[in-house]
Amino acid sequence: MEITFLLNGESVSLQNPAPTQTLLDWLRENRSLTGTKEGCNEGDCGACTVMVRDQDSAKALNACILFLPQLNGKSVTTVEGLSSPKGTLHPVQQALIDHHGSQCGFCTPGFAMSMATAHCNGTAADDDTLAGNLCRCTGYAPIIRAAQAAQDLPRAEWLSTPPPAATSTPNQPESSDALAALYAANPQATLVAGATDIGLWVTKQLRELPDLIFLNRCTDLQQITETDQGLRIGAGVTMDRLHSAMTQRHPSFAEMLRRFASAQIRAAATIGGNIANGSPIGDSPPPLIALGAQLHLRHGDTRRDTPLEDFFIDYGKQDLAPGEFVEAITIPHQPDQLNVYKLSKRFDQDISAVCGAFNIATEKGIVTQARIAFGGMAGTPKRAHTVEQALIGKPWSQATLDAAHDAWEQDFQPLTDMRASAAYRLTTARNMALRALFEDQGQQTSVLEVTP
Ligand SMILES: Cc1cc2nc3c(=O)[nH]c(=O)nc-3n(C[C@H](O)[C@H](O)[C@H](O)COP(=O)(O)OP(=O)(O)OC[C@H]3O[C@@H](n4cnc5c(N)ncnc54)[C@H](O)[C@@H]3O)c2cc1C
Ligand code: FES
Ligand code: FES
Repeated sequence: MEITFLLNGESVSLQNPAPTQTLLDWLRENRSLTGTKEGCNEGDCGACTVMVRDQDSAKALNACILFLPQLNGKSVTTVEGLSSPKGTLHPVQQALIDHHGSQCGFCTPGFAMSMATAHCNGTAADDDTLAGNLCRCTGYAPIIRAAQAAQDLPRAEWLSTPPPAATSTPNQPESSDALAALYAANPQATLVAGATDIGLWVTKQLRELPDLIFLNRCTDLQQITETDQGLRIGAGVTMDRLHSAMTQRHPSFAEMLRRFASAQIRAAATIGGNIANGSPIGDSPPPLIALGAQLHLRHGDTRRDTPLEDFFIDYGKQDLAPGEFVEAITIPHQPDQLNVYKLSKRFDQDISAVCGAFNIATEKGIVTQARIAFGGMAGTPKRAHTVEQALIGKPWSQATLDAAHDAWEQDFQPLTDMRASAAYRLTTARNMALRALFEDQGQQTSVLEVTP
Protein backbone atom coordinates (compact mmCIF):
# COMPACT_ATOMS: atom_id res chain seq x y z
CA MET A 1 0.00 0.00 0.00
CA GLU A 2 1.23 3.49 -0.82
CA ILE A 3 -0.33 6.70 0.47
CA THR A 4 0.42 10.26 -0.57
CA PHE A 5 -0.28 13.49 1.26
CA LEU A 6 1.11 16.96 1.82
CA LEU A 7 2.78 17.71 5.13
CA ASN A 8 3.30 21.40 5.76
CA GLY A 9 3.36 21.96 2.01
CA GLU A 10 5.76 19.13 1.15
CA SER A 11 4.73 15.95 -0.61
CA VAL A 12 5.05 12.73 1.41
CA SER A 13 4.68 9.19 0.03
CA LEU A 14 4.65 6.30 2.48
CA GLN A 15 5.03 2.68 1.42
CA ASN A 16 3.03 0.23 3.51
CA PRO A 17 2.47 2.39 6.57
CA ALA A 18 1.22 0.43 9.59
CA PRO A 19 -2.54 0.92 9.09
CA THR A 20 -3.17 1.77 12.74
CA GLN A 21 -0.18 4.05 13.22
CA THR A 22 -1.58 7.37 14.36
CA LEU A 23 -0.57 10.63 12.77
CA LEU A 24 0.44 11.90 16.22
CA ASP A 25 2.94 9.09 16.80
CA TRP A 26 4.28 9.34 13.27
CA LEU A 27 4.78 13.12 13.47
CA ARG A 28 6.59 12.92 16.77
CA GLU A 29 8.58 9.72 16.25
CA ASN A 30 9.32 9.72 12.53
CA ARG A 31 9.43 13.42 11.73
CA SER A 32 10.48 14.95 15.07
CA LEU A 33 7.54 17.36 14.73
CA THR A 34 6.92 17.55 18.46
CA GLY A 35 4.83 20.73 18.41
CA THR A 36 1.78 18.47 18.11
CA LYS A 37 1.32 17.39 21.70
CA GLU A 38 0.00 14.24 23.30
CA GLY A 39 -2.36 15.01 26.16
CA CYS A 40 -5.04 12.36 26.56
CA ASN A 41 -4.43 10.22 23.45
CA GLU A 42 -8.19 9.65 23.17
CA GLY A 43 -9.66 12.65 21.37
CA ASP A 44 -10.66 14.55 24.48
CA CYS A 45 -8.17 17.39 25.00
CA GLY A 46 -7.26 18.81 21.59
CA ALA A 47 -3.52 19.15 22.33
CA CYS A 48 -2.83 17.08 19.19
CA THR A 49 -5.06 19.14 16.85
CA VAL A 50 -3.85 19.47 13.26
CA MET A 51 -5.45 20.99 10.18
CA VAL A 52 -6.40 18.53 7.43
CA ARG A 53 -7.56 19.92 4.09
CA ASP A 54 -9.18 18.24 1.13
CA GLN A 55 -10.56 19.84 -2.04
CA ASP A 56 -13.63 21.15 -0.21
CA SER A 57 -12.69 22.40 3.23
CA ALA A 58 -10.27 22.47 6.11
CA LYS A 59 -10.94 20.41 9.24
CA ALA A 60 -9.38 20.51 12.67
CA LEU A 61 -8.79 16.87 13.62
CA ASN A 62 -7.25 15.04 16.54
CA ALA A 63 -3.98 13.49 15.32
CA CYS A 64 -4.00 11.01 18.21
CA ILE A 65 -6.90 9.03 16.74
CA LEU A 66 -6.22 9.60 13.06
CA PHE A 67 -4.65 6.66 11.24
CA LEU A 68 -2.10 7.36 8.51
CA PRO A 69 -4.16 5.82 5.64
CA GLN A 70 -6.93 8.32 6.40
CA LEU A 71 -4.57 11.05 5.12
CA ASN A 72 -4.28 9.66 1.61
CA GLY A 73 -4.90 12.59 -0.78
CA LYS A 74 -5.09 15.16 2.01
CA SER A 75 -2.99 18.15 3.07
CA VAL A 76 -1.84 18.17 6.70
CA THR A 77 -0.67 21.29 8.50
CA THR A 78 0.90 21.04 11.92
CA VAL A 79 1.79 23.94 14.17
CA GLU A 80 5.31 23.90 12.66
CA GLY A 81 3.78 24.73 9.27
CA LEU A 82 1.46 27.47 10.42
CA SER A 83 3.73 30.50 10.00
CA SER A 84 4.66 31.63 6.48
CA PRO A 85 7.76 30.23 4.75
CA LYS A 86 9.38 33.62 5.47
CA GLY A 87 8.61 33.25 9.17
CA THR A 88 5.64 35.63 9.47
CA LEU A 89 3.35 34.35 12.16
CA HIS A 90 -0.12 33.21 11.21
CA PRO A 91 -2.71 35.84 12.30
CA VAL A 92 -4.01 33.54 15.04
CA GLN A 93 -0.49 32.99 16.42
CA GLN A 94 0.12 36.73 16.56
CA ALA A 95 -3.28 37.28 18.17
CA LEU A 96 -2.57 34.64 20.84
CA ILE A 97 0.58 36.55 21.73
CA ASP A 98 -1.09 39.97 21.62
CA HIS A 99 -3.98 38.87 23.82
CA HIS A 100 -1.93 36.80 26.28
CA GLY A 101 -3.67 33.58 25.23
CA SER A 102 -0.99 31.22 26.52
CA GLN A 103 0.74 30.48 29.80
CA CYS A 104 2.34 27.03 30.11
CA GLY A 105 1.73 26.58 26.40
CA PHE A 106 1.10 22.84 26.31
CA CYS A 107 -2.38 23.31 24.90
CA THR A 108 -1.44 26.29 22.73
CA PRO A 109 -0.47 24.48 19.50
CA GLY A 110 -3.86 22.75 19.52
CA PHE A 111 -5.68 26.03 20.08
CA ALA A 112 -3.67 27.69 17.32
CA MET A 113 -4.60 24.86 14.93
CA SER A 114 -8.32 24.96 15.77
CA MET A 115 -8.33 28.74 15.43
CA ALA A 116 -6.34 28.65 12.18
CA THR A 117 -8.76 26.08 10.74
CA ALA A 118 -11.75 28.29 11.56
CA HIS A 119 -9.86 31.26 10.09
CA CYS A 120 -9.09 29.26 6.93
CA ASN A 121 -12.81 28.43 6.56
CA GLY A 122 -13.72 32.10 7.00
CA THR A 123 -15.42 31.61 10.36
CA ALA A 124 -14.59 32.82 13.85
CA ALA A 125 -13.34 30.36 16.43
CA ASP A 126 -15.88 30.55 19.24
CA ASP A 127 -16.92 28.49 22.26
CA ASP A 128 -18.25 25.73 20.00
CA THR A 129 -15.17 25.56 17.80
CA LEU A 130 -12.86 25.47 20.80
CA ALA A 131 -14.88 23.13 23.05
CA GLY A 132 -12.52 20.29 22.10
CA ASN A 133 -9.43 22.22 23.22
CA LEU A 134 -8.77 22.12 26.94
CA CYS A 135 -6.61 24.70 28.69
CA ARG A 136 -5.85 24.42 32.37
CA CYS A 137 -3.95 27.63 33.01
CA THR A 138 -4.73 30.56 30.74
CA GLY A 139 -8.49 30.72 31.03
CA TYR A 140 -10.59 30.95 27.92
CA ALA A 141 -11.37 34.67 27.76
CA PRO A 142 -7.97 35.74 26.35
CA ILE A 143 -8.06 32.84 23.89
CA ILE A 144 -11.52 33.81 22.62
CA ARG A 145 -10.41 37.46 22.43
CA ALA A 146 -7.45 36.36 20.31
CA ALA A 147 -9.75 34.36 18.00
CA GLN A 148 -12.04 37.35 17.57
CA ALA A 149 -9.12 39.68 16.89
CA ALA A 150 -7.79 37.38 14.15
CA GLN A 151 -11.18 36.79 12.56
CA ASP A 152 -11.15 39.58 9.95
CA LEU A 153 -7.45 39.46 9.12
CA PRO A 154 -6.55 38.17 5.63
CA ARG A 155 -6.31 34.42 5.16
CA ALA A 156 -2.86 32.84 5.10
CA GLU A 157 -2.35 32.20 1.38
CA TRP A 158 0.65 29.95 2.11
CA LEU A 159 -1.78 27.35 3.49
CA SER A 160 -3.72 27.04 0.24
CA THR A 161 -1.54 24.57 -1.73
CA PRO A 162 -4.04 22.06 -3.15
CA PRO A 163 -3.82 18.52 -1.77
CA PRO A 164 -2.35 15.82 -4.04
CA ALA A 165 -4.36 13.13 -5.78
CA ALA A 166 -4.82 10.10 -3.54
CA THR A 167 -3.11 6.89 -4.55
CA SER A 168 -5.19 3.75 -5.11
CA THR A 169 -4.80 1.29 -2.28
CA PRO A 170 -6.39 -2.15 -1.94
CA ASN A 171 -8.03 -1.51 1.46
CA GLN A 172 -9.44 1.91 0.58
CA PRO A 173 -12.35 1.21 -1.81
CA GLU A 174 -13.47 4.21 -3.83
CA SER A 175 -17.19 3.45 -4.02
CA SER A 176 -19.82 1.60 -2.04
CA ASP A 177 -19.93 -1.05 -4.80
CA ALA A 178 -16.22 -1.70 -4.37
CA LEU A 179 -16.64 -1.69 -0.58
CA ALA A 180 -19.54 -4.17 -0.80
CA ALA A 181 -17.49 -6.61 -2.89
CA LEU A 182 -14.37 -6.26 -0.73
CA TYR A 183 -16.20 -6.65 2.58
CA ALA A 184 -18.32 -9.58 1.38
CA ALA A 185 -15.09 -11.35 0.42
CA ASN A 186 -13.37 -10.36 3.71
CA PRO A 187 -16.10 -10.37 6.36
CA GLN A 188 -13.47 -10.73 9.12
CA ALA A 189 -12.12 -7.25 8.34
CA THR A 190 -12.87 -4.22 10.52
CA LEU A 191 -14.48 -1.25 8.79
CA VAL A 192 -12.91 2.09 9.71
CA ALA A 193 -15.01 5.19 9.09
CA GLY A 194 -13.96 8.23 11.18
CA ALA A 195 -11.98 6.07 13.67
CA THR A 196 -13.26 8.11 16.63
CA ASP A 197 -14.24 4.84 18.31
CA ILE A 198 -11.67 2.56 16.68
CA GLY A 199 -8.82 4.98 17.39
CA LEU A 200 -9.36 4.31 21.09
CA TRP A 201 -9.33 0.53 20.58
CA VAL A 202 -5.75 1.09 19.43
CA THR A 203 -4.52 3.85 21.76
CA LYS A 204 -6.28 2.73 24.95
CA GLN A 205 -7.05 -0.97 24.56
CA LEU A 206 -3.82 -1.63 22.61
CA ARG A 207 -5.75 -3.90 20.25
CA GLU A 208 -4.08 -5.33 17.15
CA LEU A 209 -6.26 -4.74 14.10
CA PRO A 210 -4.50 -6.50 11.26
CA ASP A 211 -7.31 -6.40 8.73
CA LEU A 212 -8.85 -2.99 8.09
CA ILE A 213 -11.04 -1.58 5.34
CA PHE A 214 -11.13 2.23 5.27
CA LEU A 215 -14.38 3.90 4.20
CA ASN A 216 -13.05 7.45 3.86
CA ARG A 217 -12.66 7.30 0.06
CA CYS A 218 -16.19 6.00 -0.63
CA THR A 219 -17.49 9.42 -1.63
CA ASP A 220 -20.88 8.04 -2.62
CA LEU A 221 -21.43 7.10 1.04
CA GLN A 222 -20.95 10.75 1.97
CA GLN A 223 -24.00 12.13 0.12
CA ILE A 224 -27.17 13.62 1.59
CA THR A 225 -30.08 13.42 -0.86
CA GLU A 226 -33.79 14.19 -0.91
CA THR A 227 -35.82 11.18 -2.00
CA ASP A 228 -39.58 10.57 -2.18
CA GLN A 229 -39.32 8.84 1.18
CA GLY A 230 -37.29 11.47 3.02
CA LEU A 231 -33.79 12.71 3.60
CA ARG A 232 -31.30 9.94 2.77
CA ILE A 233 -28.05 10.34 4.67
CA GLY A 234 -25.07 8.25 3.57
CA ALA A 235 -23.29 6.26 6.28
CA GLY A 236 -20.10 8.26 5.68
CA VAL A 237 -21.72 11.63 6.44
CA THR A 238 -19.91 13.26 9.34
CA MET A 239 -21.60 14.62 12.43
CA ASP A 240 -20.80 18.22 11.49
CA ARG A 241 -22.58 17.76 8.14
CA LEU A 242 -25.50 16.03 9.86
CA HIS A 243 -25.65 19.03 12.18
CA SER A 244 -25.93 21.40 9.19
CA ALA A 245 -28.58 19.19 7.56
CA MET A 246 -30.71 19.20 10.72
CA THR A 247 -30.45 22.94 11.46
CA GLN A 248 -33.53 23.90 9.43
CA ARG A 249 -35.33 20.55 9.44
CA HIS A 250 -35.17 19.48 13.09
CA PRO A 251 -33.46 22.30 15.05
CA SER A 252 -33.66 20.52 18.41
CA PHE A 253 -31.72 17.58 16.91
CA ALA A 254 -29.16 20.05 15.55
CA GLU A 255 -28.84 21.73 18.93
CA MET A 256 -28.09 18.36 20.53
CA LEU A 257 -25.51 17.60 17.83
CA ARG A 258 -23.77 20.90 18.61
CA ARG A 259 -22.92 19.20 21.89
CA PHE A 260 -21.86 15.91 20.28
CA ALA A 261 -18.23 15.58 21.38
CA SER A 262 -16.17 18.47 19.93
CA ALA A 263 -15.57 20.14 16.57
CA GLN A 264 -12.58 17.84 15.98
CA ILE A 265 -14.61 14.68 16.66
CA ARG A 266 -17.69 15.90 14.74
CA ALA A 267 -15.48 16.55 11.71
CA ALA A 268 -14.36 12.90 11.70
CA ALA A 269 -17.17 10.86 13.30
CA THR A 270 -19.78 9.44 10.91
CA ILE A 271 -23.44 8.66 11.35
CA GLY A 272 -22.73 5.09 10.13
CA GLY A 273 -20.18 4.57 12.91
CA ASN A 274 -22.49 6.10 15.50
CA ILE A 275 -25.20 3.59 14.58
CA ALA A 276 -23.11 0.50 13.77
CA ASN A 277 -21.15 0.63 17.03
CA GLY A 278 -24.42 -0.27 18.80
CA SER A 279 -23.62 1.94 21.77
CA PRO A 280 -26.50 2.36 24.22
CA ILE A 281 -25.37 5.97 24.70
CA GLY A 282 -24.76 6.98 21.08
CA ASP A 283 -26.42 10.34 20.56
CA SER A 284 -27.90 10.06 17.08
CA PRO A 285 -30.03 6.89 17.51
CA PRO A 286 -32.65 8.32 19.95
CA PRO A 287 -33.69 11.23 17.70
CA LEU A 288 -33.42 9.07 14.58
CA ILE A 289 -35.67 6.39 16.13
CA ALA A 290 -38.13 9.06 17.29
CA LEU A 291 -38.21 10.33 13.69
CA GLY A 292 -38.99 6.82 12.41
CA ALA A 293 -35.72 6.48 10.47
CA GLN A 294 -35.14 3.52 8.15
CA LEU A 295 -31.71 1.94 8.00
CA HIS A 296 -30.37 0.75 4.64
CA LEU A 297 -28.06 -2.26 4.96
CA ARG A 298 -26.01 -3.88 2.24
CA HIS A 299 -24.16 -7.17 1.78
CA GLY A 300 -22.52 -7.61 -1.63
CA ASP A 301 -25.31 -6.83 -4.10
CA THR A 302 -28.09 -7.59 -1.60
CA ARG A 303 -29.76 -4.68 0.12
CA ARG A 304 -32.35 -4.67 2.88
CA ASP A 305 -34.08 -2.00 4.96
CA THR A 306 -34.99 -2.12 8.62
CA PRO A 307 -36.50 0.39 11.05
CA LEU A 308 -33.55 1.71 13.06
CA GLU A 309 -35.15 0.67 16.35
CA ASP A 310 -35.09 -3.00 15.23
CA PHE A 311 -31.37 -2.84 14.42
CA PHE A 312 -30.42 -2.74 18.11
CA ILE A 313 -31.15 -6.26 19.35
CA ASP A 314 -29.34 -6.36 22.68
CA TYR A 315 -26.31 -4.85 24.36
CA GLY A 316 -23.43 -5.32 21.88
CA LYS A 317 -25.70 -7.19 19.41
CA GLN A 318 -26.91 -5.54 16.23
CA ASP A 319 -28.90 -6.89 13.29
CA LEU A 320 -25.84 -6.95 11.03
CA ALA A 321 -24.54 -10.10 9.30
CA PRO A 322 -20.82 -10.72 8.66
CA GLY A 323 -19.78 -8.75 5.59
CA GLU A 324 -22.88 -6.53 5.81
CA PHE A 325 -22.58 -2.79 6.37
CA VAL A 326 -24.67 0.32 6.91
CA GLU A 327 -25.09 2.10 3.59
CA ALA A 328 -27.42 4.94 4.55
CA ILE A 329 -30.32 6.01 6.72
CA THR A 330 -33.51 7.79 5.69
CA ILE A 331 -35.39 10.26 7.87
CA PRO A 332 -38.99 10.35 6.57
CA HIS A 333 -40.42 13.71 5.51
CA GLN A 334 -42.53 15.08 8.36
CA PRO A 335 -43.37 18.34 10.07
CA ASP A 336 -40.92 19.18 12.83
CA GLN A 337 -42.29 18.35 16.27
CA LEU A 338 -39.10 16.89 17.71
CA ASN A 339 -37.59 17.78 21.07
CA VAL A 340 -34.20 16.26 21.93
CA TYR A 341 -32.38 16.55 25.26
CA LYS A 342 -28.89 15.43 26.13
CA LEU A 343 -27.91 15.16 29.76
CA SER A 344 -24.22 14.78 30.52
CA LYS A 345 -21.92 15.74 33.35
CA ARG A 346 -20.25 18.46 31.27
CA PHE A 347 -22.11 20.66 28.83
CA ASP A 348 -19.55 20.21 26.04
CA GLN A 349 -17.43 17.29 24.92
CA ASP A 350 -19.11 14.62 27.01
CA ILE A 351 -20.95 11.37 26.45
CA SER A 352 -24.64 11.32 27.45
CA ALA A 353 -25.85 9.91 30.73
CA VAL A 354 -29.36 10.11 29.28
CA CYS A 355 -30.46 11.30 25.85
CA GLY A 356 -34.19 11.59 25.19
CA ALA A 357 -36.07 12.35 21.97
CA PHE A 358 -39.78 13.18 21.80
CA ASN A 359 -41.70 13.28 18.54
CA ILE A 360 -45.23 14.10 19.66
CA ALA A 361 -48.07 15.18 17.40
CA THR A 362 -51.24 16.71 18.78
CA GLU A 363 -54.60 17.72 17.37
CA LYS A 364 -56.73 20.12 19.38
CA GLY A 365 -54.53 19.40 22.40
CA ILE A 366 -54.90 15.61 22.15
CA VAL A 367 -51.86 13.43 21.47
CA THR A 368 -52.41 11.73 18.12
CA GLN A 369 -48.96 10.24 17.67
CA ALA A 370 -46.01 9.71 19.98
CA ARG A 371 -42.58 8.31 19.25
CA ILE A 372 -40.28 8.57 22.24
CA ALA A 373 -36.77 7.08 22.29
CA PHE A 374 -33.94 7.12 24.78
CA GLY A 375 -30.26 6.42 25.05
CA GLY A 376 -28.67 5.60 28.40
CA MET A 377 -31.82 3.93 29.74
CA ALA A 378 -31.23 0.34 28.60
CA GLY A 379 -28.58 -1.86 26.98
CA THR A 380 -29.55 -0.39 23.61
CA PRO A 381 -31.16 2.81 22.34
CA LYS A 382 -34.83 2.03 23.03
CA ARG A 383 -38.35 3.26 22.41
CA ALA A 384 -40.70 4.02 25.29
CA HIS A 385 -43.66 2.05 23.92
CA THR A 386 -45.65 1.90 27.18
CA VAL A 387 -45.25 5.61 27.82
CA GLU A 388 -46.25 6.36 24.23
CA GLN A 389 -49.45 4.31 24.64
CA ALA A 390 -50.20 6.09 27.91
CA LEU A 391 -50.11 9.43 26.05
CA ILE A 392 -51.88 8.67 22.76
CA GLY A 393 -55.52 9.77 22.80
CA LYS A 394 -55.03 11.84 25.97
CA PRO A 395 -54.64 15.59 26.40
CA TRP A 396 -50.98 16.67 26.06
CA SER A 397 -50.81 17.91 29.63
CA GLN A 398 -49.03 17.54 32.94
CA ALA A 399 -51.95 15.51 34.29
CA THR A 400 -51.44 12.95 31.49
CA LEU A 401 -47.72 12.76 32.24
CA ASP A 402 -48.45 12.35 35.95
CA ALA A 403 -50.85 9.52 35.15
CA ALA A 404 -48.13 7.90 32.99
CA HIS A 405 -45.67 7.95 35.90
CA ASP A 406 -45.48 4.16 36.33
CA ALA A 407 -45.25 3.46 32.59
CA TRP A 408 -41.62 4.59 32.56
CA GLU A 409 -40.55 1.71 34.77
CA GLN A 410 -42.26 -0.76 32.47
CA ASP A 411 -40.23 0.54 29.54
CA PHE A 412 -36.92 1.04 31.27
CA GLN A 413 -34.91 -0.60 34.03
CA PRO A 414 -31.74 1.48 33.66
CA LEU A 415 -28.35 0.69 35.16
CA THR A 416 -26.46 2.50 37.83
CA ASP A 417 -22.99 3.34 36.55
CA MET A 418 -20.37 6.08 36.79
CA ARG A 419 -22.49 8.47 34.75
CA ALA A 420 -25.74 8.23 36.73
CA SER A 421 -27.77 6.07 39.08
CA ALA A 422 -30.80 4.13 37.90
CA ALA A 423 -33.12 6.32 39.98
CA TYR A 424 -31.59 9.51 38.60
CA ARG A 425 -31.97 8.24 35.06
CA LEU A 426 -35.67 7.44 35.54
CA THR A 427 -36.32 10.77 37.21
CA THR A 428 -34.56 12.75 34.51
CA ALA A 429 -36.33 10.81 31.75
CA ARG A 430 -39.69 11.79 33.26
CA ASN A 431 -38.46 15.36 33.65
CA MET A 432 -37.43 15.47 30.02
CA ALA A 433 -41.01 14.54 29.04
CA LEU A 434 -42.23 17.41 31.18
CA ARG A 435 -39.73 19.70 29.52
CA ALA A 436 -40.95 18.61 26.07
CA LEU A 437 -44.50 19.47 27.17
CA PHE A 438 -43.49 22.86 28.54
CA GLU A 439 -41.56 23.69 25.39
CA ASP A 440 -44.53 22.69 23.24
CA GLN A 441 -46.56 25.10 25.37
CA GLY A 442 -44.06 27.84 24.57
CA GLN A 443 -42.48 28.00 28.01
CA GLN A 444 -38.84 28.85 28.48
CA THR A 445 -37.02 25.76 29.74
CA SER A 446 -33.41 26.05 28.65
CA VAL A 447 -31.00 26.78 31.48
CA LEU A 448 -28.82 28.48 28.87
CA GLU A 449 -31.43 31.21 28.66
CA VAL A 450 -31.20 31.95 32.38
CA THR A 451 -29.41 35.21 33.04
CA PRO A 452 -28.16 36.43 36.42
C1 LIG B 1 -13.59 12.42 22.66
C2 LIG B 1 -14.78 11.68 22.14
C3 LIG B 1 -16.04 12.18 22.37
C4 LIG B 1 -17.17 11.50 21.91
N1 LIG B 1 -18.40 12.04 22.15
C5 LIG B 1 -19.49 11.42 21.68
C6 LIG B 1 -20.77 11.98 21.90
O1 LIG B 1 -20.91 13.07 22.47
N2 LIG B 1 -21.85 11.29 21.45
C7 LIG B 1 -21.73 10.10 20.80
O2 LIG B 1 -22.73 9.52 20.39
N3 LIG B 1 -20.52 9.55 20.56
C8 LIG B 1 -19.40 10.18 20.97
N4 LIG B 1 -18.17 9.63 20.75
C9 LIG B 1 -18.08 8.32 20.07
C10 LIG B 1 -17.83 8.40 18.54
O3 LIG B 1 -17.33 9.64 18.16
C11 LIG B 1 -19.10 8.13 17.76
O4 LIG B 1 -19.68 6.91 18.10
C12 LIG B 1 -18.89 8.19 16.24
O5 LIG B 1 -20.10 8.48 15.59
C13 LIG B 1 -18.28 6.93 15.65
O6 LIG B 1 -18.17 7.12 14.26
P1 LIG B 1 -16.82 6.83 13.47
O7 LIG B 1 -17.09 7.14 12.04
O8 LIG B 1 -15.68 7.52 14.08
O9 LIG B 1 -16.72 5.25 13.69
P2 LIG B 1 -15.45 4.29 13.71
O10 LIG B 1 -14.66 4.49 14.93
O11 LIG B 1 -14.72 4.36 12.41
O12 LIG B 1 -16.23 2.89 13.79
C14 LIG B 1 -17.07 2.57 14.89
C15 LIG B 1 -17.68 1.17 14.68
O13 LIG B 1 -18.62 1.21 13.61
C16 LIG B 1 -18.24 0.32 12.56
N5 LIG B 1 -18.62 0.99 11.32
C17 LIG B 1 -18.28 2.24 10.93
N6 LIG B 1 -18.95 2.55 9.80
C18 LIG B 1 -19.70 1.47 9.47
C19 LIG B 1 -20.61 1.19 8.42
N7 LIG B 1 -20.89 2.07 7.45
N8 LIG B 1 -21.22 -0.01 8.41
C20 LIG B 1 -20.97 -0.95 9.38
N9 LIG B 1 -20.11 -0.73 10.39
C21 LIG B 1 -19.49 0.47 10.43
C22 LIG B 1 -16.77 0.08 12.75
O14 LIG B 1 -16.33 -1.14 12.19
C23 LIG B 1 -16.67 0.11 14.27
O15 LIG B 1 -17.08 -1.12 14.80
C24 LIG B 1 -17.02 10.29 21.19
C25 LIG B 1 -15.74 9.79 20.92
C26 LIG B 1 -14.63 10.47 21.39
C27 LIG B 1 -13.27 9.93 21.09
S1 FES C 1 -4.00 13.99 22.67
FE1 FES C 1 -5.84 14.70 23.59
S2 FES C 1 -7.12 14.90 21.85
FE2 FES C 1 -5.37 13.97 21.06
S1 FES D 1 -1.61 27.41 28.55
FE1 FES D 1 -1.28 25.77 29.91
S2 FES D 1 -2.81 24.34 29.48
FE2 FES D 1 -3.27 26.02 28.26
